[in-house]
Amino acid sequence: MGTQGLGITFLTLPLVVRAAAGGQWCYDSQDPKCGPSHWKELKASCGGDKQSPVNIDRRQLQRDGGLGDILFEGYDQAPPGKWRLANDGHTVMLSLESESIPEHITISSGGLPGRYRALQLHFHWGSPAGNGSEHTLDGHQLPMELHIVHINVKYRTLAEAKGHPNGLAVLGFFFQASESPNTNYNTIVAGLRNISRAGDSVDLASTFRLSTLLPPAHHLSRYYRYQGSLTTPDCSEVVVWTLFEELVEISQEQLRAFVSTLHFPPAGSTLLKMTNNFRPPQPLHGRKVFASRAATASSGSPCGGHHQLLSPLLLLALLAPLSPTP
Ligand SMILES: *[C@@H]1O[C@H](CO)[C@@H](O)[C@H](O)[C@H]1NC(C)=O
Ligand SMILES: *[C@@H]1O[C@H](CO)[C@@H](O)[C@H](O)[C@H]1NC(C)=O
Ligand SMILES: [Zn+2]
Repeated sequence: MGTQGLGITFLTLPLVVRAAAGGQWCYDSQDPKCGPSHWKELKASCGGDKQSPVNIDRRQLQRDGGLGDILFEGYDQAPPGKWRLANDGHTVMLSLESESIPEHITISSGGLPGRYRALQLHFHWGSPAGNGSEHTLDGHQLPMELHIVHINVKYRTLAEAKGHPNGLAVLGFFFQASESPNTNYNTIVAGLRNISRAGDSVDLASTFRLSTLLPPAHHLSRYYRYQGSLTTPDCSEVVVWTLFEELVEISQEQLRAFVSTLHFPPAGSTLLKMTNNFRPPQPLHGRKVFASRAATASSGSPCGGHHQLLSPLLLLALLAPLSPTP
């Protein structure tokens, strides 16, 4: 066993090094030599000036009254057929395409420049010790982030969509840890055990309504919008981003299933848990992040909170000079 292990290490080491230098990307948790800071060496677009994710500074949002409700179609019906869940070596991905009904699940309106059909959804997460969202809110990472990737119905293939600035629309949802499990995630969480190794895939026992994975519909009019990129190479700058304000609740135990069940592709004889599969926030470079019509007031609510906190202090400061000093 020992000598066999060594043999494998010696044989695969040169291959791994070559892969890291020539075209493979990864996360730092896998190998810092091919992590996010090196992606621009593989794909120049990863060094562009409209990259994602970004930090969403809620004091710097610009209200856009044109950002009304998004029209979700097919989100409330379980499609016929099967959904395949796969470990693609970077994340767990659920394919949403159906050959029989090609435009079954779509989004439009809400300031989106067209109609977009759902291709796949996937997640980004952290480690037992840390949160792992890609976008950050006021500088803070949340435990996990869901991305639902849609393609403009004008384009037939991903390659074609990547040639246009409005080619893709991604919906992003943040998670927070809750006490009780979110049973709507049971099918996905149960499927993780079947796709522990990179390259594994499993047909889920059933399809389900996509809306059950999201916050309740009446919260979905509160969102942030900006123009950015894919958060993995080739980092194409063709994504209309929508991040929702309302968080999805999922239990610690369910979060732990993502963090501890899946593995990155093996490097030599080591099998690494798939953790911290997020890209850190990228510079805005002058881009604006817009708040939807119904989003919580960007300056209103935090300021309101401060006033309440500050007023007793102000009162004390004002009264202080009047008190007799011993
Ligand atoms: C991680 O996310 C939780 C929300 O579930 C939040 O309360 C906590 O502050 C976050 N931790 C860090 C270090 O940002
Ligand atoms: C998934 O894994 C479970 C147990 O880990 C097993 O019972 C089940 O048959 C597997 N499903 C498929 C479709 O492989
Ligand atoms: Zn993603």
